[in-house]
Amino acid sequence: MAALVRCPSLLYRPLRFFASMSRKFVQDPHKLLLIPGPIEVADEVLYANAHPSMSHMSPDFASAFGDCIRMTRDILYSKDAQPFLIAGSGTFGWDQVSANLVEPDEDVLVLNCGYFAEGFADCLHAYGAKVDQLTAVIGGTVKLSDIEAALKRKKYKLITVTHVDTSTAVLSNIKVVAELVRRVSPDTLIVLDAVCSVASEEIQMDAWGIDVVLTASQKGLGTPPGLSIVVVSQMALKVFENRSTPVRTYYASWKKWLPIMKAYERNAAAYFATPPVNLIYAYRASLTQITRGPVSLQDRFEAHKDTSRRFKKFAESLGFKSVPLTEDVSANGMTALYFPDGIIASDIVPSLLKKDVVVAGGIHSAIKDKYFRVGHMGVTAVNPERGDMDKISDALAETLKEAKASKL
Ligand SMILES: Cc1ncc(COP(=O)(O)O)c(C=O)c1O
Repeated sequence: MAALVRCPSLLYRPLRFFASMSRKFVQDPHKLLLIPGPIEVADEVLYANAHPSMSHMSPDFASAFGDCIRMTRDILYSKDAQPFLIAGSGTFGWDQVSANLVEPDEDVLVLNCGYFAEGFADCLHAYGAKVDQLTAVIGGTVKLSDIEAALKRKKYKLITVTHVDTSTAVLSNIKVVAELVRRVSPDTLIVLDAVCSVASEEIQMDAWGIDVVLTASQKGLGTPPGLSIVVVSQMALKVFENRSTPVRTYYASWKKWLPIMKAYERNAAAYFATPPVNLIYAYRASLTQITRGPVSLQDRFEAHKDTSRRFKKFAESLGFKSVPLTEDVSANGMTALYFPDGIIASDIVPSLLKKDVVVAGGIHSAIKDKYFRVGHMGVTAVNPERGDMDKISDALAETLKEAKASKL
């Protein structure tokens, strides 16, 4: 005891020992979360989220933020696009685009493959844009010939494409759409809502000529919800800088945020509004796994494709039918399935929950009660040893058997 009084650091040694033990953090048992976001999160990411409180002006935090900016670019294969990492959800990306890139009464074109394109259109409209929509049949994408005709009819300031519309699990071929826009209307900015696709689908921002990629932390990026991630090409930034009217937003203004992002990238802190400090540590942990981990980015995309193909095939063998009309427009990070004849949502979703598997119901208004949705992004797809897909496959087969038996 006397030694402890003389040398208080001895007192803390056992505490430090236990603190280092907690690095082998393991999550409490919980129901398997297989909705299309938020998704299951790796232990290391949750542990990083529990980082001790830090000043957002400290050098340690600034360098963590800088890492996030650089690695965000890496995931999108971009050399010089500008990431904006701001507290908010995916929807806040819509606000940023609508408020910063569109001036009142400018024309925008929205490619609509479901509920989330409707939302983006609504947001653009709220900021004063004149919005035209090209709407696909349910389960399909907008025809290239219709896009070309629309671009030839009118000069659009920007076009929005929802990469994966989470309401239908429809995947749009952004590479081909971007090629078409660049050829027919080179000044039209190409905005990709990639909330449900970053890190589960390949996006080559520079090579494909995409101007804005907007996303959020809670899906393929494998981080808890709360971080809005918007990445803007240098060309789009110039368009923003050359606006003829002032920006009509405060918190979403890139004028406010650009110097902050630039400072953090130099590993120097700067302040406009308090960043979500712990989430930045969590995001850095996830980005480190994604960009520097044992699985390369390309292999990550392949793992999502493989998981998706197997699960869709299995579900179809049970009698479910995919909402996307063909394989080439099917997302790889999620699946939307129509119920077999005679089966309804209440036969399936609650019963899966009882088996500790959480899935999502339908949200596309035209087919809402006819289908349900399963997310298989991030660790669920990339770490098959977790057994997530085995668990849902077994639970789904058993649930369907029970539902059929109960109707006899
Ligand atoms: C494609 C798409 N866009 C936008 C959003 C909105 O994101 P958030 O719910 O994080 O605001 C979502 C949410 O699921 C989405 O899937």
